[in-house]
Amino acid sequence: MKFLYLHNAIDSNRLCSYDTITAMEIQDSPYLKQLFVCVNKKEQGKSCCADKQGELIRDRLKAYVNDHGLKGKVRVSGSGCVDFCEQGANIMVYPDYKWYSHVTPADLDKIIETELKPLVPALDAGSSGPKPVQAFLFDLGNVLIRFDHMLAAKRLTNRTAIPPLALYQLVYESPLVTDHDEGRISTRQFYEGVQQQLGVKIPYEEFVDVWNEIFWEEKEMTSRVEWLLQNYPGYLISNTNRLHFDYLRRWYPVLEKLNGWILSYEVGALKPKPEIYQRALEMIKLPASKVLYIDDRADLIEAGRRLGFQTHRFTGWQAFSRDLQTRGIFV
Ligand code: FES
Repeated sequence: MKFLYLHNAIDSNRLCSYDTITAMEIQDSPYLKQLFVCVNKKEQGKSCCADKQGELIRDRLKAYVNDHGLKGKVRVSGSGCVDFCEQGANIMVYPDYKWYSHVTPADLDKIIETELKPLVPALDAGSSGPKPVQAFLFDLGNVLIRFDHMLAAKRLTNRTAIPPLALYQLVYESPLVTDHDEGRISTRQFYEGVQQQLGVKIPYEEFVDVWNEIFWEEKEMTSRVEWLLQNYPGYLISNTNRLHFDYLRRWYPVLEKLNGWILSYEVGALKPKPEIYQRALEMIKLPASKVLYIDDRADLIEAGRRLGFQTHRFTGWQAFSRDLQTRGIFV
């Protein structure tokens, strides 16, 4: 989420000019866990964490993090005074909202056992030994690439005078789309059918542009998928048509990095029909239980689960990253 504060818009009538745009971003913490160790030093005679070996405690925790592959996933930082000076040394653990007080170096084994050690096996599972997830099966629309059919409906409205919502229903909820997506009709036949449905003539090239210019990429998701594809096999399973897919391949190179595509118009079956998932398993050559299937539609996730896939219902790259972390995969 991004907030923009446009000072000159707020204060445009006044003589002073503000031409700076301040941008603030709010995002999920990049760390699984953060430990803040108070290292504050107070003037002589006053109780403080520095005098209770705060720095030594911080450094030992840092060393454990570095030595056990948790760097970048867990952050240990020294903090200023948190106003519990008599109870020092103090350690605050987030996002657990947990405070340790009266900590001495002798307590570190217990703190490490509780706070850090459980994260180490998860990391090891992601980098060596048997992996809980051995391959990924991604949905396309609104998972790998975002889209909005209403963008096309609104543009077609200009040619037809049919309101966008009614136009959406006429086109996208007609059997034409299913026939096209299951490969029973060609792109040309689909084009003719849409014109007939809307009662207008549209030049073919214009129709193709309108039909295809509904997609955009979310860089945060793409970069995570690219990382996954360097470490795991990844496949695409999509309800789509040749017109869209040829266009997407041209504009979104991440699709070329996948190990294989299972496309409804080639298989002749849309998700959630079992045939398309069966084709996926034949291509992946792994049992469904070793494959993580990611889709944004609840009914499709349910179909995948019934077939034995591990599943993730996609709502955004942040939640996807968090789910991967619980599986020992740190993207
Ligand atoms: S010096 Fe650590 S809490 Fe005040």
